[in-house]
Amino acid sequence: MPPEVPEAPEPEATRRAADVTESSRASRGWWDRNADDYQREHGTFLGDDRFVWCPEGLDEVEAELLGPVESLKGLDVLEIGAGAAQCSRWLAAQGARPVALDLSHRQLQHARRIAADYTGSASVPLVQADAGTLPFADGSFDLACSAYGALPFVADPVRVLREVRRVLRPGGRFVFSVTHPIRWAFPDEPGPEGLSVSASYFDRTPYVEQDEQGRAVYVEHHRTVGDRVRDVVGAGLRLVDLVEPEWPEWNTQEWGGWSPLRGSLIPGTAIFVCERD
Ligand SMILES: C[S@@+](CC[C@H](N)C(=O)[O-])C[C@H]1O[C@@H](n2cnc3c(N)ncnc32)[C@H](O)[C@@H]1O
Repeated sequence: MPPEVPEAPEPEATRRAADVTESSRASRGWWDRNADDYQREHGTFLGDDRFVWCPEGLDEVEAELLGPVESLKGLDVLEIGAGAAQCSRWLAAQGARPVALDLSHRQLQHARRIAADYTGSASVPLVQADAGTLPFADGSFDLACSAYGALPFVADPVRVLREVRRVLRPGGRFVFSVTHPIRWAFPDEPGPEGLSVSASYFDRTPYVEQDEQGRAVYVEHHRTVGDRVRDVVGAGLRLVDLVEPEWPEWNTQEWGGWSPLRGSLIPGTAIFVCERD
């Protein structure tokens, strides 16, 4: 009989400060440990080569937030926090030249797994790096995008936005989706208990899960809508649109705290469309 391995104790959920280094370390560890579950749970909804912006199911085919689909051909695109690179695979299928970047080795292994079985023609380079230090020369990309990648998890979003601005060519566009800031005022529950305000919208203290030694194992950072606008502008980008996708009737699927019930009443996602001059 193999020795019984004691189960790791549940991390403690709290609100406390978490700096750039601690947040990055926690994110990398959490996504490495949880990538398998994430892809098992959400892989079908995301599809192998669709570009889905959010749990509401908004698809780039209809949203065209990056520009008209037919204009993507030949463009260099950076996807940040790409996970298993589903969005990048869709971009490649449109004739773009995407690079999929993620902090998590295990998420990128899923990208490799899907690519190995993929029958489409598109192949996507994968890069493991932190969004706060992009390993690319200035002006390398025409477009950048991020579907819930990196920005909800970083302690210094302006640093990421400045990096994106640096690697974009003049006139380049960056579109990113994050949890809608108003959600931070409510419990992260899909049912009716997620409809009553339980915290201050103005409390920017990060949500942290920590282990027995007090080390962060998961971190999310809250920015108000105004903070996000100031972050974008402060990084030298222009905000050209802020999209709040409505919950569509066809989507009956819950995703954590995102559900048809809550989606019909309060926004769950904010998508920032930015450009550099
Ligand atoms: C919610 S998942 C989204 C993945 C993919 N865009 C999707 O829609 O499935 C967040 C991703 O961001 C990545 N991530 C978190 N912090 C990051 C950072 N600082 N730099 C780069 N990637 C990061 C995680 O590893 C994870 O793959």
